[in-house]
Amino acid sequence: MLRQDILQLLAACPGNYISGEIMSQQLNVTRAAVWKQIQVLKKEGFEIVGQTKKGYCLLQTPFSLNEWVLKRALTTTSLGHRINLEDELESTNVRAKELARQGSIHGQVVLARRQKSGRGRLQRLWESPRGGLWLSVVLQPNLSLADASKLTLAASVAVVDAVEELFSLRLGIKWPNDLMFNGLKIAGILGEVVGEWNAVQTLILGIGINANFPRKQLSPLLNATTLLEILKVDVDLNILAATILKHLEKQVISLEGKAFEELRVCWLERAVSLGEEVRILRGEQVIQGVFKGITIDGALLLETEDGEKSFSAGEVQLRPT
Ligand code: BTN
Repeated sequence: MLRQDILQLLAACPGNYISGEIMSQQLNVTRAAVWKQIQVLKKEGFEIVGQTKKGYCLLQTPFSLNEWVLKRALTTTSLGHRINLEDELESTNVRAKELARQGSIHGQVVLARRQKSGRGRLQRLWESPRGGLWLSVVLQPNLSLADASKLTLAASVAVVDAVEELFSLRLGIKWPNDLMFNGLKIAGILGEVVGEWNAVQTLILGIGINANFPRKQLSPLLNATTLLEILKVDVDLNILAATILKHLEKQVISLEGKAFEELRVCWLERAVSLGEEVRILRGEQVIQGVFKGITIDGALLLETEDGEKSFSAGEVQLRPT
């Protein structure tokens, strides 16, 4: 595609000018065609300057999601090599499930700049305005169904590690997989199995990060924050997505190698409220106790008046006292 060829040329010498004449010769098109594509790229958020005698110079790639920029940032071997990026979707998890049913491959990634009805855990709605990172990965891992459920824990660890690597910002994981900063939720993870596990073994891992938008765009009831609120600047969503996929791929490979105990330890190192008095909500029922840790399957361990009890993520919610 001409636009991508132009980008390739400009990106090969960032900060330097390439003449429109040379580009048009190399790509075998008219200078007007080059100019036209440059205008489209500018609209997509590429900062490109043009000078009459010198030509065009790429100063900055967009921070908003862009397939070319994301692919260029990828360092993975399997995750993200097939990308489906849309400006708007009902839910990236729903789209990923449709693609999985049509036979999409391990590592396919679906992204949307905005979701109209993003899905959260426990059948909740996930508010997904423009500026967030709304991403789903199709995984067909070499794992049993019981072990595949550990992938949501792995995804939490991957998000914490990516955010720390890029912004030196340490998030905490609130069991089972809410990502927190100073008691406020900044990201969430939703794992969904597609069809019968034995037949195709497909899991959709949805990751939502409140990134480049102010907290006031979310309902005040949510107790949430955003990266913009904390860092005071916009972040490059393409680099963020690529870095999460890098850490996630590492975690998936390690789980396939049966490194469950390593994952449990990594998760616990990043956990919040460990050793603290917490409340567990199971429907109307409230159970109080000390949060002791998680089992190898990711179930929460609670020291209650009646001894140690474990709870799986599907049935309860955790609340600090
Ligand atoms: C939670 O309730 O904490 C889980 C939120 C998961 C949200 C993400 S955004 C991308 C993907 N698509 C969805 O519809 N949900 C997940």
